[in-house]
Amino acid sequence: MAQHVRGVVASGKGEPVSVETIVIPDPGPGEAVVQVQACGVCHTDLHYREGGINDEFPFLLGHEAAGIVEAVGDGVVDLEAGDFVVLNWRAVCGTCRSCRRAKPWYCFATHNATQQMTLLDGTPLSPALGIGAFADKTLVAAGQCTKVDAAADPAAAGLLGCGVIAGFGAATYTGEVKRGDSIAVFGCGGVGNAAIAAASLAGATTIIAIDLDARKLDWAKGFGATHTIDARDGRVVERVRELTGGFGADICIEAVGHPDVLKQAFYARDLAGTVVQVGVPTPDMALPAIPMIELFGRGGSIKPSWYGDCLPSRDFPLLIDLYLQGRFPLDRFVSETIAIDDVEAAFAKMELGDVLRSVVVFPPA
Ligand SMILES: NC(=O)c1ccc[n+]([C@@H]2O[C@H](COP(=O)([O-])OP(=O)(O)OC[C@H]3O[C@@H](n4cnc5c(N)ncnc54)[C@H](O)[C@@H]3O)[C@@H](O)[C@H]2O)c1
Ligand SMILES: [Zn+2]
Ligand SMILES: [Zn+2]
Repeated sequence: MAQHVRGVVASGKGEPVSVETIVIPDPGPGEAVVQVQACGVCHTDLHYREGGINDEFPFLLGHEAAGIVEAVGDGVVDLEAGDFVVLNWRAVCGTCRSCRRAKPWYCFATHNATQQMTLLDGTPLSPALGIGAFADKTLVAAGQCTKVDAAADPAAAGLLGCGVIAGFGAATYTGEVKRGDSIAVFGCGGVGNAAIAAASLAGATTIIAIDLDARKLDWAKGFGATHTIDARDGRVVERVRELTGGFGADICIEAVGHPDVLKQAFYARDLAGTVVQVGVPTPDMALPAIPMIELFGRGGSIKPSWYGDCLPSRDFPLLIDLYLQGRFPLDRFVSETIAIDDVEAAFAKMELGDVLRSVVVFPPA
């Protein structure tokens, strides 16, 4: 039977979000209903509310979540009620041309639940990134649920679902950071700091954090940055070169989503080095003007990174294990825990740079 629960809804462009009663259908074939335990507040939720993603209001926000599977639909074989899961927004299909070529992390046909969650009057909700987890319960595709060790704190575990996995993977898989490498990370929010923690874990010896905000640089040191650069000083490229023997970093990670920052990352890189673009640009942004001879002459690569080239089934359990062993500081991303009514206030704190992540925690059912 369909259930009525609370959910955080963005009703119109720029309007404050509100907590509404929403309707969750029973899971259909290939679907699961998850009782949400915790869900992080991400910039992308705010982008939805501002109409920056698309106009398909009303949105059910929230997408960095962990919880307990309540029920699964027909045909779901590897998931059952009671499983502790982290939700992901890239449920791989297994049959597209990339999956068939054994590169499922590029899957070109990721999917979500088929049925819709609605408001009480039947208006369909658009769940943020196909998840919608600022809600007591949510309906997702079973492939969006990844089982992890239930010993993990849900508030920390849920953060793996978006920014943290993207930053971790941008360094680990897209950038292929190795022991002894130098790496510069441009933008030290949740994504950038996860890249810094991943570089530290991989054994990079020079880890340079770059941000406009001094507090973010302080936090970056806690994640393993060996050096910091205040981007407001205007000499970012020169400073990275100074810190890397005059050459530039082996790997530069753009975690802001801006052409000027991509240009800095391009020039702050050593010959044959790698630039990773994990920051998401807005549709109006163009590549920075860089002479083509520089692209050729400097060698190496520029690589966009979707979801950090991560595979939830491989990487969520791995990072939870490393976290439980004290080797990956997942809980450091949790600046505060809040209630479901506090999402709007959390957006304001996020815009001021006061938090890395506010996390909505739900009382046990
Ligand atoms: N590729 C993916 O799959 C993926 C997944 C999640 C998020 N993202 C994107 O990654 C980016 C970062 O996300 P986040 O959650 O860390 O955001 P955030 O807002 O928490 O962090 C961005 C940081 O960049 C800093 N910054 C802004 N302008 C800068 C500049 N010119 N130079 C240096 N630093 C600057 C800000 O002070 C802030 O600390 C966003 O664009 C987000 O959409 C990508
Ligand atoms: Zn696929
Ligand atoms: Zn997110």
